[in-house]
Amino acid sequence: MEANTITSMPRIGDKAPDFEAVTTTGKLKFSDYNKGSWVILFSHPADFTPVCTTEMSGFAKEKEFFANHNTKLMGLSIDSIHAHIAWVNAVHEKTGVLFEFPIIADIDMSISKLYGMLQPGESETAAVRAVFIIDPEGKVRLIMYYPLNVGRNMAEIKRTLLALQTSDEHKVAMPLDWEPGKKVIIPAPKTIEALAERKASKLEMVDWYLAKKTL
Ligand code: BEZ
Repeated sequence: MEANTITSMPRIGDKAPDFEAVTTTGKLKFSDYNKGSWVILFSHPADFTPVCTTEMSGFAKEKEFFANHNTKLMGLSIDSIHAHIAWVNAVHEKTGVLFEFPIIADIDMSISKLYGMLQPGESETAAVRAVFIIDPEGKVRLIMYYPLNVGRNMAEIKRTLLALQTSDEHKVAMPLDWEPGKKVIIPAPKTIEALAERKASKLEMVDWYLAKKTL
């Protein structure tokens, strides 16, 4: 592949590209796995590497949080299924942490390329640290990309998942640094009548288009 050429890259709002994969929990079709739940699909550069071990352990330790928020995890790297299994086993034996979610063995790089996880300017053979948050309708809702040498932030991954779910449920938007319990933004009025109602309301208002409330 020519350097700096990315074969495809889903964007926010796109249907998540479907695929079948060999994983540490068996063969899976993404659209089946995604049915009825949110999925966080994430890639790591390589098995048996230090930053990746911290990240995968971070995801594994949040098993209950993700289950409680109707979210399944799915990892990926350009490694063989044997390497994945050996790594899962080694981390489990050394630390007691078990990576129970499926990890895709993307040895032919096909899924990495489908999701723009292989970014040749960073590495021609290892996936960058990508995170795709995909909703139960199979739509890509949020994307993060990190380089090989910087680990992700689990608090931010959890925060953005909750922000998306809360936004969907209450039809509101989330301001800077929103966290559960903090005020949310109510959509701006779209008619003169709605504007008058807004101005007469007791909402916390910076201006007519920027009003907040507690859920
Ligand atoms: C790591 O996970 O430690 C790592 C992997 C690939 C490149 C650099 C660091």
